[in-house]
Amino acid sequence: MDQIVIEGGASLRGRVVISGAKNAALPLICATILAPGRNVLNNVPRLGDVRTVLKLLAIIGAEVDMEWPRVVVDTSELDNPVAPYELVKTMRAAILVLGPLVARYGKAKVSLPGGCAIGARPINLHLKALEAMGADIEIKRGYVEVTCDRLRGARIDFPVATVGGTENVMMAASLADGVTEINNAAREPEIEDLADLLNAMGAKVEGAGTSRIVITGVDSLRAVEHHVIPDRIEAGTFMVGAALNRGEVELAGVRPAHLIPVIDALRSAGASVDIQDDRLFVRGPAELKPFNLTTEPHPGFPTDMQAQFMVLALAARGTSMITESIFENRFMHVPELVRMGADIDITSRSATIVGPARLEGATVMATDLRASASLILAGLIAEGTTQVLRVYHLDRGYENIVEKLGGLGAGIQRVSSEFF
Ligand code: UD1
Repeated sequence: MDQIVIEGGASLRGRVVISGAKNAALPLICATILAPGRNVLNNVPRLGDVRTVLKLLAIIGAEVDMEWPRVVVDTSELDNPVAPYELVKTMRAAILVLGPLVARYGKAKVSLPGGCAIGARPINLHLKALEAMGADIEIKRGYVEVTCDRLRGARIDFPVATVGGTENVMMAASLADGVTEINNAAREPEIEDLADLLNAMGAKVEGAGTSRIVITGVDSLRAVEHHVIPDRIEAGTFMVGAALNRGEVELAGVRPAHLIPVIDALRSAGASVDIQDDRLFVRGPAELKPFNLTTEPHPGFPTDMQAQFMVLALAARGTSMITESIFENRFMHVPELVRMGADIDITSRSATIVGPARLEGATVMATDLRASASLILAGLIAEGTTQVLRVYHLDRGYENIVEKLGGLGAGIQRVSSEFF
């Protein structure tokens, strides 16, 4: 298996172009199920998770053409509304085909995702919502089987704001009979991007980006062309990288409005962030300041940036506190950071981080996507060489991360297994 090897100490300098958002591309690809015909998506990142969902669409019967960053999904003739275990187990977001399949075909059979490294992550809220819309749901041999003549509009009150749940309901409701109202809807930018795609297809989705979304069902949707929004988490990861080691980086092709909580948190750590249209200029200070933050649903600080900010806290002089309020088990990067010499203490859902840490390069294991990114950032501030194993996690979510960081001056390379 490949490794990523990082020589610590370099400052990131230069310009990096941010890719399309993984978490937007996945639901957008699933939404093409709703609109028979040739759907064209531009700015699609070339990532493991995106390939997985395209493979799933191909199994369902779509014709998929990958001309990165453009992907064409022809959903004219779908004949197999099934998402098999082999794909769902590698990528939980595969559950996003459920709503569109039931809406278009009146039935779907999707493997239950099972456990996940960052917590239990159930899909009970997705299922409860579809049930409220008139679907029959059965769990059989590890699969959820959903049937329904035609979904009908319903009022869905989510007890917690779920991104995937909101997306599944938006897609299902677009072809339902009547009006669906989602309360306590997730407000992430990816939800707005999905609403834009659905509305271009002919759907009637109002209120995306607020906590109340109203969808008036229509009889059919048409295939469209759409441009995926930039990846705010990839951008945030490079912003943290720039703030370390007094770096100075221009990020191009971003939507600063999607990054407000990340920009605020970076500034509170003493980094300077200048905004110019779709570009951000990030400069690391001579000395980073400690900070406190809590992950929250958007527009709060994103849980997908928590692991990377822990490295920023390690580089700051003083004691920082980071609280994870979304997922119950998302501190798996901490033992690896501690192996590199970090002083981090976890009590319940909060981590207390004492800096500045004198990290030493080590061989560390990536456990999930964002944890992997934090280990690479830690490698940048460590003394000596850091080897990050299990890099397939990074391939799931960061397009060309080695090339992009290398282009900014990091001492980084991917070493293939044949050398070991
Ligand atoms: C999405 C993102 C992921 C991000 C997360 C939170 C994608 C593909 N993934 O994941 O990167 O970390 O949002 O911002 O967009 N929950 C339930 N029951 C459910 C559904 C969710 O209890 O049926 C809980 C979860 O366990 C979690 C919380 O709700 O505690 C939020 O999860 P959710 O927003 O659904 O995350 P995902 O959509 O899976």
